[in-house]
Amino acid sequence: MWGGRFADGPSAIMREINASIPFDKALWRQDIAASKAHVAMLAAQGIVTAADAEAIERGLDEIAREYEAGGVPEDWDLEDIHMTIEARLAELIGPVAGRLHTARSRNDQVATDFRLWVRDAIDRVDTGLAAFQRALVSRAGDHADAIMPGFTHLQTAQPVTLGHHLMAYYEMTARDRTRFADARRRLDQCPLGSAALAGTGFPIDREATSRALGFEAPTRNSLDAVSDRDFALDFLMVATACGVHLSRLAEELILWASQPFGFVRMPDALSTGSSIMPQKKNPDAAELVRGHAGRIAGCMTALTITMKGLPLAYSKDMQDDKPPVFEAAGLLELCIAAMTGMIAEASFDTARMREAAQRGYATATDLADWLVREADIPFREAHHITGAAVRLAESKGVALSDLALDELQAVDARIDDRVYDALSIDASVAARASYGGTAPEQVRARIEEARDELGM
Ligand code: ARG
Repeated sequence: MWGGRFADGPSAIMREINASIPFDKALWRQDIAASKAHVAMLAAQGIVTAADAEAIERGLDEIAREYEAGGVPEDWDLEDIHMTIEARLAELIGPVAGRLHTARSRNDQVATDFRLWVRDAIDRVDTGLAAFQRALVSRAGDHADAIMPGFTHLQTAQPVTLGHHLMAYYEMTARDRTRFADARRRLDQCPLGSAALAGTGFPIDREATSRALGFEAPTRNSLDAVSDRDFALDFLMVATACGVHLSRLAEELILWASQPFGFVRMPDALSTGSSIMPQKKNPDAAELVRGHAGRIAGCMTALTITMKGLPLAYSKDMQDDKPPVFEAAGLLELCIAAMTGMIAEASFDTARMREAAQRGYATATDLADWLVREADIPFREAHHITGAAVRLAESKGVALSDLALDELQAVDARIDDRVYDALSIDASVAARASYGGTAPEQVRARIEEARDELGM
């Protein structure tokens, strides 16, 4: 491509370090779409003839068919997808292929192709997240009043419902979807026509190519347009946040599936056995979601470090932008699908959850609240009295609600037998009816809103 300037060809090492075709061939669809938009604009502006444009378009369509049918041979000398397609075009239609690269550079070309790719990836991820949310909402509906221990510090804190717990992940995912939508909105500008870095002297129509490729507008600064990879970093940062959420849920399923918890049986289809211990059923899919979230964060770190310190405009370091984005997108899509399957198919042992909620003095706060409400005791003092009651129950090895009235009254004489209504886990959960609280009526109301949001 640049033989005119060089006396010698590249060494084998140069060829190898330079080649991006092994991974950027994933951009073939976007590259062909951008080239078609570009050549149609060149013809409309009278920069190439209609006949040449038509030959180029036909050739590009033929190359698309070749990719659909299995691909175009890779040659490291051609470096990347852009030169591979251009060289193949020349084989198909002859020297007129050389007119396609008028008024553009691979710098604006790759920036355009990659934005188109990331935009499609965001759309795929969002579709996956919507399906995940539907699974969460549907299982939350099944278990809107199933009581389980709620934890802080992984210590039993207060009873909550399983529906409430699952809907917490609905909220996280809703935030992730707005983050992806925001990233998509910001990337929706077309770099094509920025050329190498400074724009072009040809009378191009950037509005036309931007519109043809479904962008909202052309980018406004050519230097920024060819050297900006914020759209890729945005995607990776949001993917990292989303991966973190999936990983937290994965971790909970892993804990809950362990024998000491016994809260959930994972679907066989998303578990594995052990080659040595016949009794084992391992939550491997959940563990890999947890693991993959780390790799996604690694991809985000990789591109962040690649970009830092790069002067304007394009530098070849930026060719390394694609592998982390491709990898993270693939991992995230897989994690979302696996997690959707796990949530949809897991069988929750609600009896076991309920029994666990009975242990651990989960209603101690309810006793303190009762003392405040019914005996007009300041909360700090009520907290202290309740602590003494818990100590007594613990020493006897019983639940708070199993203490006799005279035992409770020995702790504080102001306690009367109405207190037992407050000490049951059902009463505790039903009482937490503040907006967004765990009371089943609140959980059901949030589930209804979510169903509306998802069009369920
Ligand atoms: N293969 C390159 C990349 O992916 C395309 C842009 C090359 N531009 C250049 N001036 N060498 O970044």
